[in-house]
Order: sequence, then structure tokens, then C-alpha cells
Amino acid sequence: MSHRYGHLLSPGKIGSLQLRNRIVMAAMGTNFASEDGHTTERLISYYEARAKGGSGLIVLETSAALWPCGASMPNTIGFSKDAFIPGLSELTRRVHQHGARIMAQLNHSGKISQSDTIAGRPIPVPSAVKKSRSDMVRVLTKDELRNFIKGAGPNGVGPQYYEMTTEQIAETVHGFASAAVRARQAGFDGIELHAGHGYLLANFLSPYTNQRSDQYGGSRENRARFLLETITAVREATAPDFPIMVRLDAQEFRVEGGITLPDCVETAYLCERSGADAIDVSAYGNVAHSIAFTEAPLVHDPGGFIPFAKAVKKAVSIPVIGVGRIEPDVGDRGIAAGYFDFVAMGRGLLADPDLPAKLAAGNEKSVIPCIYCYICVSQIFINGSVCCAVNHNTGREYEGDILARTSSPQQILVIGGGPGGMESARLLSEKGHQVSLWEKEADLGGTARIAALAYEPNERLVHYLVNAVRALPIAVQLGITANRENIDTLNPDHIILATGAKRVAPEIVGKEQHHVFDGDQLRGILFGNSPTAIAKLSGPQRLLVNAGRLCQLFRNVRLMRFFSKLWMPIGREVVVIGGGLVGLELAEFLIERNRKVVVLEPGPSFGAELSIVRRARVLHQLQEDGAELHKSVGDLEIGAHMIRFSLDGEVQTKKCTQVIIAMGAQPDDSLLNELAKSGARIHQTGDCRKVGYIDGAILDARKLVQQMEL
Ligand SMILES: Cc1cc2nc3c(=O)[nH]c(=O)nc-3n(C[C@H](O)[C@H](O)[C@H](O)COP(=O)(O)O)c2cc1C
Ligand code: SF4
Repeated sequence: MSHRYGHLLSPGKIGSLQLRNRIVMAAMGTNFASEDGHTTERLISYYEARAKGGSGLIVLETSAALWPCGASMPNTIGFSKDAFIPGLSELTRRVHQHGARIMAQLNHSGKISQSDTIAGRPIPVPSAVKKSRSDMVRVLTKDELRNFIKGAGPNGVGPQYYEMTTEQIAETVHGFASAAVRARQAGFDGIELHAGHGYLLANFLSPYTNQRSDQYGGSRENRARFLLETITAVREATAPDFPIMVRLDAQEFRVEGGITLPDCVETAYLCERSGADAIDVSAYGNVAHSIAFTEAPLVHDPGGFIPFAKAVKKAVSIPVIGVGRIEPDVGDRGIAAGYFDFVAMGRGLLADPDLPAKLAAGNEKSVIPCIYCYICVSQIFINGSVCCAVNHNTGREYEGDILARTSSPQQILVIGGGPGGMESARLLSEKGHQVSLWEKEADLGGTARIAALAYEPNERLVHYLVNAVRALPIAVQLGITANRENIDTLNPDHIILATGAKRVAPEIVGKEQHHVFDGDQLRGILFGNSPTAIAKLSGPQRLLVNAGRLCQLFRNVRLMRFFSKLWMPIGREVVVIGGGLVGLELAEFLIERNRKVVVLEPGPSFGAELSIVRRARVLHQLQEDGAELHKSVGDLEIGAHMIRFSLDGEVQTKKCTQVIIAMGAQPDDSLLNELAKSGARIHQTGDCRKVGYIDGAILDARKLVQQMEL
């Protein structure tokens, strides 16, 4: 097999279903359906793009077999009525025309059915629900909390549960089977029964949530009975060769007495015996713990569930699907080693629907990388629609091709080589314009290079954007500062300012001292490109920083990440002022480098600009690693070896050898004003227009290109 991804790209089979490769798009809720459970053009276009992009199999997002009952989100696809079939048929038709196959994920969300809670419908459970306290509230901002409160239902009493009788179980089994029949009628190539993630079928499988004493509780076989009866009923109602996959949890994280790997292995075996054609091995994390979501199902550790898939694979002879942050090279090796047969990818295909086609074409450098920022899935927490920070075409496919070639190419100058500038240049060049991209530093990347130093996945995005820009006929100039003169020489039709934010450190007593850096100074020191910032260092520190600069060390973010673990000119006891995205990521970076860190946030919440799920993870991690975090602090005063502040009406002091002010980013229109009189049309994008970091910059670039209507 000579192709680098030969195993991943080789054809495969699930039951009778032939698939063109081993890449499965994992089920991902989008909230794109209509409120009455029908498909929409937005939803269909989104799936069609992924089919066109080369995935072998698409698993449709969680859909309600018994809609409206058991729907996960307000806009969940329904399979409970024949009226849904025409829309679903159009979906499968549009997917099939690109050679992909599609299965419907049939589900009942059980005790976490948001729609039932919001509508005040009683929710079926195996046995009485044990009360648990959620720490999620601690993580949310006031605005987010308002949305969460809707989850308390119409009378604010929260979800109402009832223990299912055997008759009700039989009715639900029948409901799943009827939904599968409709799926088949609508042209789906099979179904996936969702028996994981804390939903109804998983509630029966879990010894924690299932305390029944009848034939549906107790032993593993009894707890699996509901699921196994569903498999049998679907098989009987559809056809002997209609593919049935089952998604199982290999473990319930942070659920004492929950599902364990041996439970999963035995259930998988029982599913095979009941006629299932494949097992999709996922896991669940107790949503009452804010960190749990990034343990499962959205595992943060690369390939974190591979050992689970391996264990299941040993117990069954049907195909096993591995999932959970599996990058293509790891997936390819896993298939080759026999750990699993297929790789399901979620976030990777939100970021780049064309990933499979790009791998097949040997073009992996052009794959838009997921940066594991959790913005996509955090939308679910606020009843939003799925989106992707690095690809704002995701969910907007129905708006048409924004890259359609222009009939009147223009001369466009983009000033600023950060993510917003590079993305604007890329989009405009792909449309056929003549684009110049100017960057005042020696490297492209802008502040994303600092972000990449603190959070490694960001580096992959910088690499991708640089490669994309370099692969296009864009005239890139580095080390150039734009002014009226050089712009007049180029004489562009349009100028796009993507120069980033300015940082104005707030007025804090003592901030002028040598051991206090603001954001720009820290950046200047870490990248060795600000003589005034470097002048704040001691003699030996200056020597080392200058040596690093001379060896070009600062140009390589990866090397910087490594060497900064050995040495950097930052004291041991650091106070970070500002607990926003920048402050928290900086705190993570410093802790990894053995600094003792205190974060002081003047506002009422930490990390409001971070997605809920990532924020929860960062806060948890920082606290676990011993960082001290205080919000709503006031009266900051920086002394020579300590900082003073007020908290809850009391004055506190903290010893420190270093203070970093990580706040004060503001839009910057200085260049806009300077260039106002040039003949070109001037546009602003990214942080210089509105501070929005990577996600905001990429979105702004798209909006700008759409608005320019060139
Ligand atoms: C936005 C989003 C929505 C998801 N919705 C579902 C869902 O509807 N059903 C499901 O079984 N898993 C869902 N998942 C989990 C994914 O199927 C997948 O297991 C998980 O993202 C891990 O794979 P990845 O690391 O390749 O993203 C969702 C994940 C994301 C990112
Ligand atoms: S939003 Fe972030 S985590 Fe989600 S797919 Fe996009 S880059 Fe990945």
C-alpha cells in the first residue's frame, strides 16, 4: 500500500454496505433542522458538502426517533412521522450523488432531553434519578446563564421524570423500529442506534442510572435488554441486510458506579449476537462536571479512546469504529494495526469537509486543521447552531460559493499577516483578484504566533494559513511597514487593514516598573523584536534574548515552545492581571513552565471570550495545577515585590517577582485615519475593527469578502 493514508482510504464494508473509504463522519448535532423537526436547505447543504468532500460514510446528527419526545436540541430532526420522509429523502439523494453513504443516528435523549424539559414533558428513565449538583453554573457568564435557565422548563422546576414500565419500553422499542423503517424509506443506507452519551438507551446500560430489579436491570445482559430488543425489532422491521450500527460508551467518566470498559465489551458482544453490524466506540463524561465534556465524548487527549476501541475489537468480529480526536495518520496506523476498522471524525470534518479528498490527492498540507477550541460544541449549551472557528463556511454552505471567480479582478493590498489578513488574502486570491499581503514582522502569523506558543493547536492553523497563502499567487512582503508613500506606489484599488488590535494597558499604579510587562512588551520579549521591551530586562537576560534573536530562534514557534521550558526571562512568581482569553492561556503557558501564577480579573467572569467548554477546561486545569484565580478585584497597586488589590471589600497582597498585564486589547483605527486620503477604498477586518481573536478574525474575513461583492 503505497499511499501515505492507504489504509484509511481503502474501501470497507459494514454489513452489506460497501464504503469507498474508512472515514466516517461522526454524528454531530447542528441545530439546523426546523423547529418542527424537518430538514432544511441549510442542513442538507452542510451534509452535501461533507459528502462531496470525500467521507465514506456520514452518520447523521442525533435525531429523535420519537420526535418531539426525546429530542436533544430545539431543532432536532424527527423520524416519528411519515411527513418527515420527503425532506429526509432529499437529504439522502443529495449525499448519494457524491458517492458517500449516510446512516441516521436514531436516539432518545432520555434524562438529558432538552426539548422535553423545555416543553415540560415528563421524561422516561429506567429508575429514580439521583440528584447531583452541577458545577457548570460557576463557569458561565450572566448571558449564558440566562439561556441555561430556559432548561429549567416552563415552571422553573426542572425536568420531570417517570420510571418506564415494561409496556412503555416495548412502545419505545416499537418507536425506534418504525423510525428505522422511515429511515430506510427515505434512502438511508443504515442506522446507528445511539446507546451512549447519557441518553435513554445508555441510561439502561449504566449501573449508575439503572437500579431496576426487573428483567431490564441488574446483570449486564438485563441492562442491555432494551438495546438488544431494539436491535432485533429494527432488524425485523427493516430487512435482513439493513445495516445497524450501535454507538456505545466504553466508560462513563466522573460517574461513580457508571459504565466501565468490561461492561462495554460485553454489551458489544451481545449487540453482535443480536444482529448489529458495527460498533462505534465512544464514551461519556458526566455533564454535571464542567471538565467532563472534554474527557468524553469530546476527548481532549489525542486518540484518547483508542484503547477502548482496541478492547472491543478483540471481543467482536463485526467492524469497530474508533473515534475521539484521531488524526488521519494515527487513524491510518490504527487500521493497519487492527485496532479498529473505521475512523469516525467529528471536529476534523467541521473544520474541513474536504479532508478525505485532500488526503486522497496527497494534499494534506491544505487541510484546514481543527484547533480544539470547542466553539462548535459550546453552541449546544446556548441553543445555538454549530459553527467552526477556523472555517466559517461550515453551516453557511447554503449561502452559495463565496469563492466564485470574479469577472473584474482588482488590485488589493492586505496590510497585516495575522489570521484575518491571511484569510482575507486567501479568499480574495482564490476569487481571482491580484492580492498583495504586507506584514511588518519577519514572519506571517501576527498575534496567532503568541497564541500558538501558549496553545499548540493554534500553530497548526498558522502553518495552514501560511501554506495556503504561499500556494496562491499572492505577493507577500515581510518586514514592510505600510505608509502613504509605499501604498501610493502600489496604487491598489482596495486596501484591507488587518493590522490587529492595539493594547492599551489600564492605568495601574506601579505599572512602569521593570518587572511589569504589558501584552506588547511580553510579545516583544518572547519574540525578541522589541528593543524597548528588551531594555526592561537585566543584563544577563538581555544577553540571552539577543543571542536567541541572532540565532533566529524566535522565528520558530515550536523551538520557542521547547526552549521556553528550559529558560525564559520571566520571574518565578507571576501575577497576571486580566483573566480573559489571553490571561488564562498565558497562565497555562506559565504554569507549564513551572511558574507560580496568580490571575487577577477586574471583571465578574473569567475567560468570557473563550467558548464555554474550553473555558471550563482551562479553569479546571489551572485550578488543578495550583493557580490562584480571583475575579472582581479592584484597586490594583503594583509594588516592587508584591501586588495589592481589593477583593470582597478587603485589601489583599500577593508576593510576586513578575507582573504581566494581559488586558486592554482594543480596536485600532490609527492606520485607517492615516490612509483615509489615499484613492483606494479602505476596509478593516479582524481585531483592528473589533477584537474577536482567531474565530472573530476568520469570520470577519469571510464577511468582508462577501460584503465587498467583487
Ligand atoms: C458539535 C458537536 C456535536 C456533536 N453531536 C453529537 C451527536 O449528535 N451524536 C453523537 O453521538 N455524538 C455527537 N458528538 C460527538 C462526536 O460524534 C464525536 O464522537 C466527538 O466529537 C469526538 O470525535 P472528534 O474528536 O473527531 O471530534 C458531537 C460533537 C460535536 C463536536
Ligand atoms: S470550532 Fe474549534 S473545536 Fe470545533 S471544529 Fe472548529 S476548530 Fe475544531
